[in-house]
Amino acid sequence: MGNQFKENFLWGGAVAANQVEGAYNVNGKGLSTSDVVPNGLMGEKHFKVEENVYYPNHDAINFYYNYKEDLALMAEMGFKCFRTSINWTRIFPNGNELVPNEEGLKFYDDLFDEMLKLGMEPVVTISHYETPLYLVDHYGGWMNRKLIDFYLNYCEVIFNRYKDKVKYWMTFNEINAIHFIPFAAGGIRIPEGENKLQYVFQATHHMFLASSLAVQLGHKINKDFQIGCMLTLSTMYPATCKPEDVLGTYQMKRRSWYFSDVMMRGYYPSYAKDVWKQYDVVVEMEDGDEEILRAGTCDYIGFSYYRSSLYEDGMAIMGNTAGNTGSSNPYLETSPWGWQIDPKGLRLVCNEIYDRYQAPLFIVENGLGTIDVVEEDGSINDDYRIEYTKNHLKEVYMAMQEGCDIIGYTYWGCIDLVSAGTGEMKKRYGFVHVDKDNDGNGTLARTKKKSFEWYKKVIASNGECLFEEPVISHS
Ligand code: BG6
Repeated sequence: MGNQFKENFLWGGAVAANQVEGAYNVNGKGLSTSDVVPNGLMGEKHFKVEENVYYPNHDAINFYYNYKEDLALMAEMGFKCFRTSINWTRIFPNGNELVPNEEGLKFYDDLFDEMLKLGMEPVVTISHYETPLYLVDHYGGWMNRKLIDFYLNYCEVIFNRYKDKVKYWMTFNEINAIHFIPFAAGGIRIPEGENKLQYVFQATHHMFLASSLAVQLGHKINKDFQIGCMLTLSTMYPATCKPEDVLGTYQMKRRSWYFSDVMMRGYYPSYAKDVWKQYDVVVEMEDGDEEILRAGTCDYIGFSYYRSSLYEDGMAIMGNTAGNTGSSNPYLETSPWGWQIDPKGLRLVCNEIYDRYQAPLFIVENGLGTIDVVEEDGSINDDYRIEYTKNHLKEVYMAMQEGCDIIGYTYWGCIDLVSAGTGEMKKRYGFVHVDKDNDGNGTLARTKKKSFEWYKKVIASNGECLFEEPVISHS
């Protein structure tokens, strides 16, 4: 059958509640970390909602009210699944309540029902940069072990409520991003002058326990649940063949593998102790923690992949860098936001991770964020997006040929949304355009881009149309 993807491959798209829903303060919703960052998570930190400041995701693309129309467009493309998150603060506005907010639960009931009606499997991130702000302000976020109980209470409520609607879950979005966006990924504020890694690794330990306990709880509630971890796995190459660069690159990769090692194997890797020692970190653990970690390993590895970058000798390994050295790879092109486009890097990541864990992979984010031009006749001819996605998907296919068990692919930002990193609307990913600009102007009208029909064809042919000519070799 030509170059088809495997049967039941989960084709789809992905968004996150805080980047699409809007309605940030309605029907009982509380504030989350994403509600107080007008310039995105990489931007200047604001710790409360300030007057006279524009917060792009307070209204976002109005998905909260428009989801039926939006999901219908996704169904028209033939999506088999749709990934979104439950915004924790719709269910528990402050995070520490015992009784959930029924209006929040009802919203996701309706949302999942609509997906199911349209033939799309919901894929749900439990926490996607949406830690309740109250838990950050009053408990210190994930630095506080008490967060585990609050998170588990939240999980228990949503697992029970949606047990017959949702099968695929992920415990924390891009958990390893805590290294460079600790406020968003770990709900932690690190005071100036403090040992940042002490915070990062301690908060992470609590998140590992929470994830593991959630996996155990979820499997008790429904044994068919598939509960994954989720990492950002943009790959890294040595800038030169200098042994220091090659070794440094390897250590840099461990900065991410540290997370999947614990979540997939159920124990800290042997290099963890050395890392803690090197950076003066003491991770406080309690008796029984090791058993908890062992008992709740994840069922699959969800990950995002957008780009690759270079490692240069002298670059901080566990420090502040987000994985961008500033040096560019002469073999690759770069997006207007400086992200190096590297389809083969995705194949490499799939193989590296599959070789390491031999567990199913789910590519839950990949896509091109760039500037789109609306022509006079209203059309948007985003051939560059088609090219980007086609090239990445071909490498996904090759990775599967090489033996990787990849269960699905959800294109990131299948409908234009607010950028997590910068808060911009101008950085567009979608197959569907949303008429809204960086300052909030626009009609919010939805328009299909050229890539819409293309992705529809890809799904309809189960990937076969990606290959104009049959693939012969594995080069
Ligand atoms: C991932 C996040 O880091 O990358 C998403 O999980 C985010 O929330 C995506 O939107 C793309 O990043 P950005 O900054 O272009 O929105």
